[in-house]
Amino acid sequence: PVHYQRARTLKMALSILCALWGLVLEVALTFGPVPRISWEHREVQLIHFHKPEVSNYSTLLLSEDKDVLYVGAREVIFALNSMNIAEKLHEFPWEVTEDKRIKCAVKGKSEQTECRNYVRVLQQLNETFLYVCGTNAFQPTCDYLNLISFELGGKNEDGKGRCPFDPAQSYTSVMVDEELYSGTSYNFLGSEPIISRNSHQSPLRTEYAIPWLNEPNFVFADVIRADQNGTDGEDDKIYFFFTEVSVEYEFVGKLMIPRIARVCKRDQGGLRTLQKKWTSFLKARLICTIPDKNLIFNIINDVFILKSPNLKEPVIYGVFTPQLNNVGLSAVCAYNLSTVEEVFSKGKYMQSATVEQSHTKWVRYNGEIPSPRPGACISNKVGASSYMSSLNLPDKTLQFVKDHPLMDDSVTPIGDRPRLVKRDVKYTQIVVDRVRALNGTIYDVMFIGTDQGALHKAISCENGMHIIEETQLFPNFESVQTLLLSSKRVSTISSCLFCTSTSGKIISVGTLSAG
Ligand SMILES: *[C@@H]1O[C@H](CO)[C@@H](O)[C@H](O)[C@H]1NC(C)=O
Ligand SMILES: *[C@@H]1O[C@H](CO)[C@@H](O)[C@H](O)[C@H]1NC(C)=O
Ligand SMILES: *[C@@H]1O[C@H](CO)[C@@H](O)[C@H](O)[C@H]1NC(C)=O
Ligand SMILES: *[C@@H]1O[C@H](CO)[C@@H](O)[C@H](O)[C@H]1NC(C)=O
Ligand SMILES: *[C@@H]1O[C@H](CO)[C@@H](O)[C@H](O)[C@H]1NC(C)=O
Repeated sequence: PVHYQRARTLKMALSILCALWGLVLEVALTFGPVPRISWEHREVQLIHFHKPEVSNYSTLLLSEDKDVLYVGAREVIFALNSMNIAEKLHEFPWEVTEDKRIKCAVKGKSEQTECRNYVRVLQQLNETFLYVCGTNAFQPTCDYLNLISFELGGKNEDGKGRCPFDPAQSYTSVMVDEELYSGTSYNFLGSEPIISRNSHQSPLRTEYAIPWLNEPNFVFADVIRADQNGTDGEDDKIYFFFTEVSVEYEFVGKLMIPRIARVCKRDQGGLRTLQKKWTSFLKARLICTIPDKNLIFNIINDVFILKSPNLKEPVIYGVFTPQLNNVGLSAVCAYNLSTVEEVFSKGKYMQSATVEQSHTKWVRYNGEIPSPRPGACISNKVGASSYMSSLNLPDKTLQFVKDHPLMDDSVTPIGDRPRLVKRDVKYTQIVVDRVRALNGTIYDVMFIGTDQGALHKAISCENGMHIIEETQLFPNFESVQTLLLSSKRVSTISSCLFCTSTSGKIISVGTLSAG
């Protein structure tokens, strides 16, 4: 029983149209708090690391207890002293063999740029090993980096599904209990997107089908642990963030939609249906709009999940831009984790329906939902249900998940609007620190990188958002590519940020969080 909601879909498409094309300039111009203080590059004390012949410092990993910053660059991995990144502790060259480079060039790729090894995964496996993957001239390869000898083990595992072939393609990964979860592409052409778990016991992946992933651009992944004291047997959940081409809105051309997707750690796939595939994969739209102004921010550029211990629940922060951004607008939206979980655990699903012969339309599914609920995590609670493993789930539930990975309900931001909207800037990266000011008030301090090499520091007060500081991190206005926050305090109110630019330079910034 499918009920068409043509009117709603049309209205949405229309308002998105207006937002994209009509983007009311006069409205846009009224936005954006002005930074209270601006620092030029030469006015600030920054510590740099740069090795002249090495570029593309794209992957950072911080070991807080060892005070080491690991850096994955093009054909090399570094270990730096995180207290003074100008001090290099170790370096391991990880180069493509000449033979591989030539073979890659024969396939039509550039021998000087694409056919090299770009490090894309750098994750802590255990005390002594990092798990690392590189594009390796379009033959993605993973290996184990011994932190005592600072050498690769030479295992050369096939990195397919863990690391992209093409260095220009998006990727994200997170290590959870020695298993790597990644969002990337699975083939040479980069046309087969995948969210996978690399595990000896139970490797899992997404179905290769448009409703599951439609040309996604992955930006972030992280794990949210279940409440350890909880009695309801909840599972740990891994969240992925990406922008993809919409299936649910009709639009001339490709309409992009920001998404959050999640899978559960105890998932082991199905027995027949969804064998070696996620049975817990669900995704939903993330809303970041100014409703009364008809402004829709539909490209997500980066995410940070604030999980501070003194927080009741984690808060998800995302930086967004509109698809056609001729005015140069950016927004920050924040989401309660409980809102996200509500959508996945109670929300309506979407369903595809064929109308007018070959034309497919996505509409709300109002029919009966099989039990157990499709896409739900397996609960550990004794006696909660007869399903102790996803392998025992009934076919009806699994078939439903396979056909309905997209939720009809969307995830709305806290306060139903962006935390911050700024014009004349494109935000690329965000990290958030929760700090206690001297008088005891708790603030979330956002550090946001721009495509012009600047860092904005913003806090929200009762009377709105304030950008309290703008710092030019990179002299030649290159985009901020990664931002990493150290949770270790240099003093009670100061933390430390690491940042890379597109051309290959790393800097560290000490920040006075409370400003
Ligand atoms: C770390 O993981 C590696 C690779 O799986 C394994 O060989 C090694 O024994 C582990 N070390 C520790 C200390 O667990
Ligand atoms: C969990 O239990 C421990 C010990 O009983 C307690 O210290 C902690 O605050 C509890 N955590 C939560 C989130 O309730
Ligand atoms: C998010 O959580 C905060 C604090 O727990 C609460 O005040 C707020 O109403 C929640 N917002 C939404 C949209 O659920
Ligand atoms: C701390 O100072 C801020 C800014 O002056 C003020 O808004 C807040 O109410 C103060 N908090 C307390 C607990 O006094
Ligand atoms: C590597 O860095 C150069 C600039 O130094 C940039 O032009 C290129 O796009 C980067 N490549 C990748 C794959 O990030």
